[in-house]
Amino acid sequence: MTTVNVEAPGGHYPIHIHAGRLDRLAQSVPHDATSIAMISNPTVAGHYADRARKSLEESGKRVIYIELPDGEAHKDWRTLNRIFDGLLQSRCDRKTVLVALGGGVVGDMVGFAAACYMRGVRFIQVPTTLLAQVDSSVGGKTAVNHPLGKNMIGAFYQPVAVEIDPGVLETLPAREVSAGLAEVIKYGCIVDAAFFDWCEHNAGALRALDHDAVSYAIERSCQIKARVVSQDERESGLRAILNFGHTFGHAIESGLGYGEWLHGEAVGCGMVQAAELSAVVKGLASADVRRVRELVRAIGCPVVPPNFGTDRWIELMQVDKKTEGGVLRFIMLPRIGEAVFQPAPLQALREVLHKTAVPVL
Ligand code: NAD
Ligand code: GLY
Repeated sequence: MTTVNVEAPGGHYPIHIHAGRLDRLAQSVPHDATSIAMISNPTVAGHYADRARKSLEESGKRVIYIELPDGEAHKDWRTLNRIFDGLLQSRCDRKTVLVALGGGVVGDMVGFAAACYMRGVRFIQVPTTLLAQVDSSVGGKTAVNHPLGKNMIGAFYQPVAVEIDPGVLETLPAREVSAGLAEVIKYGCIVDAAFFDWCEHNAGALRALDHDAVSYAIERSCQIKARVVSQDERESGLRAILNFGHTFGHAIESGLGYGEWLHGEAVGCGMVQAAELSAVVKGLASADVRRVRELVRAIGCPVVPPNFGTDRWIELMQVDKKTEGGVLRFIMLPRIGEAVFQPAPLQALREVLHKTAVPVL
């Protein structure tokens, strides 16, 4: 088993990565927990709820189950309330431990519920998508969407453990694998040129879920994310680089309607746009822009953004947590493996939006 440690001010905790970890969840349940609330959705539960429940019951604690509807379209206040309803109906108390069994949508909502329920209870992340295993389950960002913007209502709240079983990816649809790989290659783009090279050489193996390739990609991604989050938990500086491609990506998601493109697909395409912007503003070599585009294509994500029209694009991007005083700021790459976070001149942005977008069919 590989263990990566997160040491953020809001909590120190292990990320355990091991095939079969789903059957060992009891090992991470705190001894003083009074009960466990496992929370999932019908899709994930259909595959893994029985195993996860059995494994949690080995702790000797009462396990209750709360089911949420599946999908980004349900990542909202109403669904969040279902968690509170379930916890209160089952008389869960301050020492109940929540367990998020699912992808980033379940993980983000359970984390936010844990931050709020009785002013804060402990929770464990059991991520079941590649995206959640390499990104969303680590670092304590929790949220729900608002009709006016994605992840706008939330909290920084760290789990007590992250339990990653790469074996559960076997049932993940190929499109979801590609979406998760977008967040994997992001780490190469922003801090690790050697990892970017490795991803270029292993794109096929990663898409095919080759065990060794995927395990290494999860481990390296978690190491990088843990390091960044440990240095800047609340995104006062460094952590912003983890949002490479996300300003464009979030605009795609909200512009098309949540769920139309997968989050990772939108981020993949957004990274190509951010690389184009980096070429104009930071002098990223055109050969490197091409490498980013080809790698995004190789992992199976879209590389051509929807054409909302430049003004609508900019309007959509204004609803971004990195915007300050109406000024749009972007993560850009002077070179592959290095990221800076700064405002981009509007003219440069318009140039890139004009160049890269084609009409929506
Ligand atoms: P998701 O949670 O919607 O999962 C994708 C689909 O796969 C769902 O239908 C889900 O039920 C299904 N699924 C999950 N595991 C499965 C499995 N093992 N086998 C078969 N099907 C499975 O999507 P996601 O890509 O995991 O997460 C996206 C969300 O994560 C977005 O809301 C995004 O904002 C959020 N996110 C958060 C952070 C963070 O730091 N908190 C970082 C990145 C993304
Ligand atoms: N996924 C961006 C972050 O966790 O900061």
